[in-house]
Amino acid sequence: MSTHIIGVGGYLPEHIMTNDDLAQIVDTSDTWIRERTGITQRHIIDKDEYTSDLATRAAAQALEDAGLSIDDMDAIVVATTTPDMIFPSTASMVQHKLGGKGFPAWDIQAVCSGFVYGLAQVDGMMKGGMFKRVLLIGAESMSRILDWQDRNTCVLFGDGAGAVVLEFNDDEGGVVGSVLHCDGSYRDLLLAKHAHPGASPHHTRAKQDRLNMNTDAAGVAAVEMKGNEVFRFAVTKLGEVVKEVLEKYDVAQSDVDWLVPHQANIRILNATAKKLGLTADQVALTVAQHANTSAASVPLALNDIYRAGKVKKGQLLLLEAFAGGFAWGANLVRWSK
Ligand code: ACO
Repeated sequence: MSTHIIGVGGYLPEHIMTNDDLAQIVDTSDTWIRERTGITQRHIIDKDEYTSDLATRAAAQALEDAGLSIDDMDAIVVATTTPDMIFPSTASMVQHKLGGKGFPAWDIQAVCSGFVYGLAQVDGMMKGGMFKRVLLIGAESMSRILDWQDRNTCVLFGDGAGAVVLEFNDDEGGVVGSVLHCDGSYRDLLLAKHAHPGASPHHTRAKQDRLNMNTDAAGVAAVEMKGNEVFRFAVTKLGEVVKEVLEKYDVAQSDVDWLVPHQANIRILNATAKKLGLTADQVALTVAQHANTSAASVPLALNDIYRAGKVKKGQLLLLEAFAGGFAWGANLVRWSK
C-alpha cells in the first residue's frame, strides 16, 4: 500500500503583472528581472479574492481530475504563508466553500516548502492508517505581504494555488518517501517580521490598487530578504537534499525522470538540475510565468507538466523546495496515474 496522487489541479488569478508594469512602481527593469531570476510576469490576486478562493478553485479541479467529490475526502490540508485570517484555518474555509463538513481540515506553515512538508506529513498519516483520501493544497497570496517599494523582494513573488488528491491504495508506485530539514538560526535572512493580521483584503485593500501599490498600512507584514545569502544557502542545501532523498530510498540519480522544484529563481533551479544530471526538458518550469508562488509553486509546476501530458505512468519525480526558516526538503514520487 502507498500514497498516490490521483488528481491534480491549479488556479492562477486573472490579473497578470508584467516586469514592465513593475518598472512603473520601483526602480527596476524587465532585463534585470529576467536575467537575474528568469521571471517575466506574475499573477496577482483580485481585491475581493482570498487565499481560500484560489485554494478552492485548484482543489475543485483536482477533485474533478480524480473523478471524486468533496464527500469522498477524509481530510483537507492547506500549506500557506498567507492565510485568509490568523484563524480559523484556510483549510476550514476551503472545506466550507467546497461544501464539505465534519472531516478534519488544517493548515501547515513551512513557507515555500509547505507543499513538500505537507506531502511528507499526509503520506506518514496515511501509512499510519489515519486517512484513505486527502486533499493537499498549496495556496498563497504573497502580493499581500510584500513591500511594494522594495525592489529586492517585490519583483520575485506571485499568487496562485495548486492541489492534489491523495489516495492510499495498493496500486504500483506512489510516494516513495521524503526528507525534511529546518534550521531556525537563519531566520533573519528571510522573514516577514510583524505578527501579521492575515492576508485579508480588508487589511491590504490600499496595497491592491494595482500600479499604486504600497505598504503603508501599519502592522502589515512585509517580506525581507538578504537575497545573496539565501541564494548561496539554497543552492547548497538543495544540492544536498536531492542526493540525500535518493540515497535514503536507494534510488539511482539516473532513475529520476522529472525535477519538480520550488520556483524561486531559474538559476537555483538550473543548479539543482545540473547536480542531478538532468536536461532542461526534465525540469518542470513555471517561474517565468508565475514567479515565486511560495507553497503553491511545486503543485503548480506539477499541474503544468501533468496538464501538458508530459508525465508518464511509472516515471520518477523528485519534488524539492527551499524556504524561509530556513526550511527545506524533498519528496520522491513514482507517478501512478
Ligand atoms: N531591479 C534592479 N536592480 C535590483 C533589483 C531589481 N528588482 N533588486 C536588486 N537590485 C540590485 C541590488 O540593489 C544590487 O545593486 P548594488 O550592487 O548596486 O547594491 C544588485 O542589483 C545586485 O543585487 P544582488 O542581491 O547581488 O542580486 P542577485 O544576483 O543575488 O539576485 C535575487 C537577487 C534574485 C533575490 C537572488 O539573490 C535570489 O534569487 N535569492 C534567493 C531567493 C530564494 O530562493 N528565496 C527562497 C524562497 S522564498 C520564501 O521562502 C518566502
